[in-house]
Amino acid sequence: MRLVVTGAGGMLGGAVCAAARAAGHEVLALDRVALDVTDAAACRERLVAARPDAVVNCAAWTDVDGAETEEAQATAVNGAGAGNVAAGAAVARARIVHVSTDYVFPGDGRDPYVESDAVGPRTAYGRSKLAGEVAVAAAGADHAIARTAWLFGAGGANFVDTMLRLGAERDELRVVDDQIGCPTWTGHLAPALVALAAGGARGVFHAAGGGRATWFELAREALSLAGSHCRVESTTTAEFPRPAARPAFSVLASERGADAVCLPDWREGLRGHLADIRSPTPGGTP
Ligand SMILES: NC(=O)c1ccc[n+]([C@@H]2O[C@H](COP(=O)([O-])OP(=O)(O)OC[C@H]3O[C@@H](n4cnc5c(N)ncnc54)[C@H](OP(=O)(O)O)[C@@H]3O)[C@@H](O)[C@H]2O)c1
Repeated sequence: MRLVVTGAGGMLGGAVCAAARAAGHEVLALDRVALDVTDAAACRERLVAARPDAVVNCAAWTDVDGAETEEAQATAVNGAGAGNVAAGAAVARARIVHVSTDYVFPGDGRDPYVESDAVGPRTAYGRSKLAGEVAVAAAGADHAIARTAWLFGAGGANFVDTMLRLGAERDELRVVDDQIGCPTWTGHLAPALVALAAGGARGVFHAAGGGRATWFELAREALSLAGSHCRVESTTTAEFPRPAARPAFSVLASERGADAVCLPDWREGLRGHLADIRSPTPGGTP
């Protein structure tokens, strides 16, 4: 398969490029400089010229708190930008796999969210990502939308690396224990996205690490696996207010049958990430 990856300079984009190359695919990696997804004409021209079989769109505005004050700019990338990539893919007759998020859900449920559950984002970032889902679905390309969550991996800022860094600097960390989600290693997600791009399944897919955790549990496990002596204490969201309210519960599950995306447990992902950090492979994960 000939694959274009947009947002290839990001954490997930880099992992998707590495996974696709490892699987023997031809990859055209486009970072923001090579293709700004807010430029509709550039998306169309670049994709028509590249003649890919598929596109994986990893380009996004990912500053969740910043989106609260700059929603128009976030939506230009996550909403209209995603639509531009999908429209370009449609003209190029390529399939598109678009990456979305658990933040499209309200996050106040108690049962895991499946693909057909009602969306209702509570943040500007979530609204911008939902706009992207709508735009991709409307663009006329053969498409799959993969919602993922709580990403960590090589080549990008993420919660696990922040905890490991702080754990090396401090004796004690306090981490919120009342938000529950699905930590997901890019080393597990990226090959699944490549498989989705190569396959023919359509519609919305939930694609997050197996199991569930709170940020406290994720931090404690990461520091324990790293052999850190830093103590991790639990705290509450109320004690750590953020500009964008985080969902209390955003566990993702799937109602899809045989074509569901099933990723390994997040603890396995953590072990993979730590091994990756200790001896990175050239070109990144996997
Ligand atoms: N990280 C998470 O926990 C998480 C959770 C759920 C879903 N997701 C989704 O997963 C996907 C990948 O996220 P990530 O964690 O890999 O984020 P990331 O590391 O921030 O990567 C996003 C990439 O998009 C690029 N970008 C921004 N604006 C662009 C534009 N106008 N045109 C082209 N590229 C642009 C960024 O470039 P610059 O760095 O130059 O701005 C960056 O390289 C996103 O769709 C995100 O919404 C992430």
